[in-house]
Amino acid sequence: MNTRTPLIAGNWKMNKLTGAASAFAREFKTLVAGLMGVDVLICPPFTCLAALREEFRDTPVGLGGQNMFYEPDGAYTGEVSAEMLLDAGCAAVILGHSERREIIGETDEIVRRKTRLALQTGLRPIVCVGETLAVREAGRAAVHVRDQTESALAGLSGEEVRRVTVAYEPIWAIGTGRTATAADAQEICSLIRATIASLAGGGAAAEVRVLYGGSVKAANIAELLQAGDIDGALVGGASLQAAEFAELVRLARVRT
Ligand code: 13P
Repeated sequence: MNTRTPLIAGNWKMNKLTGAASAFAREFKTLVAGLMGVDVLICPPFTCLAALREEFRDTPVGLGGQNMFYEPDGAYTGEVSAEMLLDAGCAAVILGHSERREIIGETDEIVRRKTRLALQTGLRPIVCVGETLAVREAGRAAVHVRDQTESALAGLSGEEVRRVTVAYEPIWAIGTGRTATAADAQEICSLIRATIASLAGGGAAAEVRVLYGGSVKAANIAELLQAGDIDGALVGGASLQAAEFAELVRLARVRT
């Protein structure tokens, strides 16, 4: 039986100043008060973490970073460490987002180092994988995602792998309004779970949450979550408005 609690994570990317973040939080926490059966995480810009920590104190809404550096501390101007995120109230961190891979040039090796350090520091990594349209059209999406997953998790113990979340975000579906069909998303998410099973065993694979991301909104979340291997969503645009994001979270609750 699938006992994984759905996780809905909002990735605000480079949006919102602190005033807008606090206003969002005040509205959002009222809208989701008392909601059970779904875990909720918001990953704001670093500059909004302190304000949101204050607003979400004594609520179940968790905070996550959008990135961190792969060394624990030192002379790395402009970078933020895993420990700093923990100190700022984060429980999780998004790693290897396609925007960082494509725009900033993060490699699989960098994502692997960050994943290991996040786990050692006590943050839950949300490792992003996903193919470009060219890779999909060449029929290589599955191989590409399997390779990215294997690379990010290489060398981790089974216990460490259990604390990882993997987010499948096909690049062609991000911010485009073009969602993968639930069947396509399920196919790749099930492959990710099979890859985890081969690396760390069936027990770990049954525990790890695999999310889908790419134009997720209230209108398509329920269908996506009906697929057996999709345990939630990493949401960009639809996480920026409190009412819209709260509705999406409400629809993702475990039906009891
Ligand atoms: P959108 O939901 O805006 O397509 O963004 C998806 C994403 O990149 C989340 O990390």
